[in-house]
Amino acid sequence: MKENGRGRWKILAKALLDKQINPTDGVTQSKRRFSSYNIFKSEKLEENESGTWFAIQVEQYTVQIHIMKPKMSLNNLTGFNNTGNICIWPSEECLALYCIKNKDLFRDNSVMEIGGGQTCLAGLVVAKVCNPASVTLTDGNQDSVDNLAKIVAKNSDLEISTLKYRWTDVQVISLSAQYDIILCADCLFFDEGRPALVSELYRLLKPGGLALVMAPLRSQTFHVFRKMAEDRFNVEHLQDFDAEVREQHLDLVDQDFYQTDIHYPNLLILRGVLKLLLFKSTFKFFI
Ligand SMILES: C[S@@+](CC[C@H](N)C(=O)[O-])C[C@H]1O[C@@H](n2cnc3c(N)ncnc32)[C@H](O)[C@@H]1O
Repeated sequence: MKENGRGRWKILAKALLDKQINPTDGVTQSKRRFSSYNIFKSEKLEENESGTWFAIQVEQYTVQIHIMKPKMSLNNLTGFNNTGNICIWPSEECLALYCIKNKDLFRDNSVMEIGGGQTCLAGLVVAKVCNPASVTLTDGNQDSVDNLAKIVAKNSDLEISTLKYRWTDVQVISLSAQYDIILCADCLFFDEGRPALVSELYRLLKPGGLALVMAPLRSQTFHVFRKMAEDRFNVEHLQDFDAEVREQHLDLVDQDFYQTDIHYPNLLILRGVLKLLLFKSTFKFFI
């Protein structure tokens, strides 16, 4: 992480330590806050010293997820970005919903989720109901990845691999052109990470592959990313990606605890056509 990013994360860490604010929306825990569109029915299963297991209903099936107890040690709060260990953010549940409603996209395809936080819920439901060829769940935070491994072990009927992957550390792995689809939820607000994120999506996707990127606008950060992505991809921007979520959003929009800018996600569909065209034009050159 570059110095300015690390600095901002330290400020958030200090605020968490000092005031115990809720990072979802920056208001104190005593106020009503928005944290979910309650898309998935969940049942609490058991609590242990490290967190709580829930059964999440996905169509006629269930997947089990482990939500970690918040760790307030200085190490956690000042180390690599910890936002994926705070909650499942609305973008992640909306991306999971979009995947279920568009399950044909995934059939026999290799799927990776990046920056999926402690549950990678979207990637998990893809593995459960969308018949992919393979699913790899990743995050850059070691605690998130350890939790993902726990979840994968519990859902032993699913073939899923987990990996610590940071798009800002490209030299660590060589996974070029391996994935048909990459999922990414609420990862666009790290100013220093956006250019690397675009390059990495481009590098990791097979020619003609696509990335589904769900995120709230968060003070223009979404649009800044979209502009950058347009240099590499054919980009489709869906403000209304799902009627059910849109309806809930419209019901919530006048509530003082709900802020469209940080809560309501938009969807970007990035298609790797440029790579395909480049490949085609190179091929033409040689024949
Ligand atoms: C706001 S959280 C979103 C987590 C999850 N997708 C969700 O919506 O619930 C942002 C996630 O991005 C991850 N992240 C931040 N920078 C990263 C990087 N350079 N490489 C990989 N993951 C990163 C964090 O660890 C965190 O899990």
